[in-house]
Amino acid sequence: MEIIRKAGAVGLGLAALLLAASPAIRPGEIWPDTRGRHIQAHGGGIIRLGDAYYWFGEDRSPDNDPGKRYVACYSSRNLIDWTFRNQVLQLADPEGFGPSWVLERPKVFYNTRTRKFVMYMHIDGPAPGRTRGYDLARVGVAAADRVDGAYHYLRSFRPLGHESRDIGQFIDDDGTPYLIFEDRPFGFRIATLSADYLNVEKEVCLIPLHLEGGAVVHYQGLYYAVGSALTGWAPNPNRYATAKSLAGPWSEFRDIAPPETKTYGAQSTMLLKVAGRKATTIIFMADMWKPQNLSDSRYLWMPLEIGGGRMWLPKPQPWTIDVHTGIAHMLP
Ligand code: GAL
Repeated sequence: MEIIRKAGAVGLGLAALLLAASPAIRPGEIWPDTRGRHIQAHGGGIIRLGDAYYWFGEDRSPDNDPGKRYVACYSSRNLIDWTFRNQVLQLADPEGFGPSWVLERPKVFYNTRTRKFVMYMHIDGPAPGRTRGYDLARVGVAAADRVDGAYHYLRSFRPLGHESRDIGQFIDDDGTPYLIFEDRPFGFRIATLSADYLNVEKEVCLIPLHLEGGAVVHYQGLYYAVGSALTGWAPNPNRYATAKSLAGPWSEFRDIAPPETKTYGAQSTMLLKVAGRKATTIIFMADMWKPQNLSDSRYLWMPLEIGGGRMWLPKPQPWTIDVHTGIAHMLP
């Protein structure tokens, strides 16, 4: 009897161990890359090339040179196991904005005509005479011939003459690239890029609301836009709206999760569409910032309940996805 009980306990322990080790997306936990290091792709963006996904984001590794800002790139074929490819951008204050200059939320677009990879990023820093601050409100652009770099910094500017802090990327089903940017005096803007992707060309929409961490996805004939309120690194209830056309009109904004959870401690960064043979899953990608130790910031990725104009973020739990079928499974 005793032996059977012990064997049972060992079996359960083994099952728990296997479960913990089995490949899964575990919101809020350390997410080791294939080297065993926590993924550094905060405020990130993802593109797909063939059957590979590339994830770019802020690399906040503690051993980085404090004068430089870094963007890392990882690749994956299953969205769960990520291989570190490179620190694709390692940039020293490119325009003399001062030691507290900012590079955040990098997003990469692939231009099939020029065969260039074009990175947009939030570039910021204090106004002259100040030592800290997000006063400059610009976007930076860098380009590379290969997806995993090295990216060559080109310039920064204010898109269409507007302030731009948090940026987001949206690639529509027909391949059209859009930049989403937060313009503090006016709201949330969506704009197209020039043919070479090196410039922001034309505004498609201004949603006159103060939203950051902006993201958009197209799903079953509707556009869904999501964003957070402006509370810095602290989480807040993220909200979404829908529209038949990117230009609007947009519906009212509604909560994506119970507001008291403050989006389960996370801030939106991207909506990733995985269209498989059997199903389409929309993944809510968000950052759980740790401002005292940004490298330890976690990721909250969850498949959304979405459709018919409604979007809902289920309570985070471990899950897996089969990118071929497009089906996501919750783990117990
Ligand atoms: C957040 C923003 C982050 C970072 C932070 C700095 O609102 O989404 O990307 O800029 O503020 O306080």
